[in-house]
Amino acid sequence: MTLEMTPEPRLAQAPAHARHGSNIGQPLTRRDGVLKVRGEARYAADNHPPGMLHAVMAVSSVALGRVSFLDVEAAKAHPGVVEVMTPANRPALTEDPDAKTNPFMFRLDLLQNDRVRYANQPIAVVIAQTLEAATEGAALLSPRYEVLPARVGLDAGESFVPAAVGVGNPSEIKRGDVEAGLASASKRIDATYETSAQYHNAMEPHAIVAAWDGDNLSIDTPSQGLAMAQGRLAGLFGISPDRIHIRSPFLGGGFGSKGFISGPQVLGVLAARLAGKPVKLVLRREHMYGPVGHRSASRQRLRIGLDGDGRLTAIDHHARVASSSFDDFFEPAADASHTLYASPAIATSHDAVRVDTGTPLFMRAPGEATGSIALESAIDEAAWACGMDPLTFRIKNYAEFEPISGKPFSSKALRQCYAQGAERFGWARRPHPPRQMRDEAGLLVGWGMGTATFPALMFAAEARAVVRGDGSGLMEIGAHDMGQGAWTALAQIAADGLGLDIDQLEFRSGTSDLPDAGIAGGSAHTATAGMAIHHAGAAVIAKLSDLATGDERSPLFGAGNAGVVARGGRLFRRDDEARSDSYADILKRASLAQIEASGKGAADPAAQSTYAMHAHGAVFAEVKVDPDLGQIRVTRMVGAFAAGRVINPRMVRSQIFGGMIWGMSFALHEQAVTDRRSGRILNANLAEYRVPVNADVPSLEVLMIEEHDPHVNALGIKGVGEIGITGSAGAVANAVWHATGIRVRRFPIGIDDLVTAGSG
Ligand code: MOS
Repeated sequence: MTLEMTPEPRLAQAPAHARHGSNIGQPLTRRDGVLKVRGEARYAADNHPPGMLHAVMAVSSVALGRVSFLDVEAAKAHPGVVEVMTPANRPALTEDPDAKTNPFMFRLDLLQNDRVRYANQPIAVVIAQTLEAATEGAALLSPRYEVLPARVGLDAGESFVPAAVGVGNPSEIKRGDVEAGLASASKRIDATYETSAQYHNAMEPHAIVAAWDGDNLSIDTPSQGLAMAQGRLAGLFGISPDRIHIRSPFLGGGFGSKGFISGPQVLGVLAARLAGKPVKLVLRREHMYGPVGHRSASRQRLRIGLDGDGRLTAIDHHARVASSSFDDFFEPAADASHTLYASPAIATSHDAVRVDTGTPLFMRAPGEATGSIALESAIDEAAWACGMDPLTFRIKNYAEFEPISGKPFSSKALRQCYAQGAERFGWARRPHPPRQMRDEAGLLVGWGMGTATFPALMFAAEARAVVRGDGSGLMEIGAHDMGQGAWTALAQIAADGLGLDIDQLEFRSGTSDLPDAGIAGGSAHTATAGMAIHHAGAAVIAKLSDLATGDERSPLFGAGNAGVVARGGRLFRRDDEARSDSYADILKRASLAQIEASGKGAADPAAQSTYAMHAHGAVFAEVKVDPDLGQIRVTRMVGAFAAGRVINPRMVRSQIFGGMIWGMSFALHEQAVTDRRSGRILNANLAEYRVPVNADVPSLEVLMIEEHDPHVNALGIKGVGEIGITGSAGAVANAVWHATGIRVRRFPIGIDDLVTAGSG
């Protein structure tokens, strides 16, 4: 069988955006924007190799038990149905899908048996000539179950202390004596906050087009971590990773759910194996609510001690979270209290219960988002208890050194975030007590704020850079653009790294045959992939420089000690820019068709052991609340953020907008509701799982505070993908309190919370 490969799209940059000199810092529009607007960007599900069949999953409608019957005959008898894949005929795997040899390996449901461990778990896959036939075939399976009572909610069973939360963070951390700090406090806060489970609702549901050619596997599927996906598939199918080619040029969002290859994606590969033909499998929206991860609900108790001057004496942050019955992911919610506020005593702890859901997973700002709304609410309550303005209180109590580690911050522009955000918002006009402001229509108006923070992480990546005989450049890295603009920002770094104008550069990304870019997660992709690109570019320039300065025919001959700078496809003598040589001429004289080098990006362990590295911000929100109906509307939000060097201000602003909108949504909208009787999610669709739309955020402003962090990495890049949620959720919740005088500690805040409390 021959495989029809989808041609990789070429990214064209509109000439209007071509800039000379520094590409970093320019607000370029997305290189892939025109393709997307024209509908020419080919997402995974847009691929149709010849002979392709369609696969549709049948999923469990019960949360715990076993499948006792599937009407495979009825499904197979339906016209167009080619095959029904069940545990009875699912092709063999080399690796047990329930194996777990590292914390990044999540157990998958790949029809290994008839057991059901959560609602929406795949129980069969119907393969057919058409999508309609496969869909009808899946319906005809009419499964029957032996049902066991599902464990639902944070009190579902015996709690336990997980061995680790997040990825390898200790469940419990203590610094100082919290009980003594609380005992000596002149005022204390003791409050419990609850957050809802949330599900990743990327616009593009997980999709895969898989084709086997012998033991070679070719797939189109969205991935935030191509090399890890390749490695996981290689393990499951017992083939070498280099036999697997994954194309993921565009993702319609990910939010963490595409960080690891999911069970349904592997089922698509299995279906292609079984059918002996290319197969497409696309999740329906409701299939997203189970097998591809989610954010655990939480219950968080915060105890805070305050002295007579309004300084913190203790923070005790405890979080109860849930994981699935069969795997471990524990949302590190309490860790949010490690980094923001200075207190002589801080304790954080987690416990967990097992429930009958799919395994929770990383979801945008995992831990930080969940913990931040509780911490920022509690800090607001503490400010009120001290009779202090919430901004004044935060300025008094924010940490100069990272409280838990005691390390200095590599840089910290939080104070400017507070000052400039407050100024822009008009915070100084805020009346101190709640329920003091009304608009002309009589709606209650409230102003709240929150502090934002997210660690500046780096993982590991490689890139390969080439300068060609014609003087143009090529940068290759298997990076991931989830929509955040990675292709654009990384190409800007590449152009500067190679000393080229961006239109002299070809930037290849998004496929698994390119150098490993690590994972697009943890807000670390631009820093990690960017540093690999930067080093690869510098290595090529160093080679070109050696050729030129050692060649007596070059105007740069003998300039080795003076050094050269690269710009616009030429090397210039640093101390005399009148002397220069073009890349093309350097290569021609050396009789080289091209010159190439690789580079790596990774955190610097020495800097990391010396400094605490975080981005920071301050978010201010205004809400209006109908005093009779309890309806809440956010009317404006202002966020001021310091996140190191900004590669592309347009992309950065857009990322922070997205985060702030999610923060608002965390406070007011998003909530997966589980039926306590059946363990099924009741609102597994975008009509009832509320996500915000433009009308929910009429005015959103982002101020980027200039920050030069010399320690995070040579380019000074911190992440911006996740920080926007933190601070924002608390700011909105605190604004609801300020509008109404009602402190709601269960999120999302609903109309019923305000109406019930108001009438009580
Ligand atoms: Mo993100 S949850 O690190 O994709």
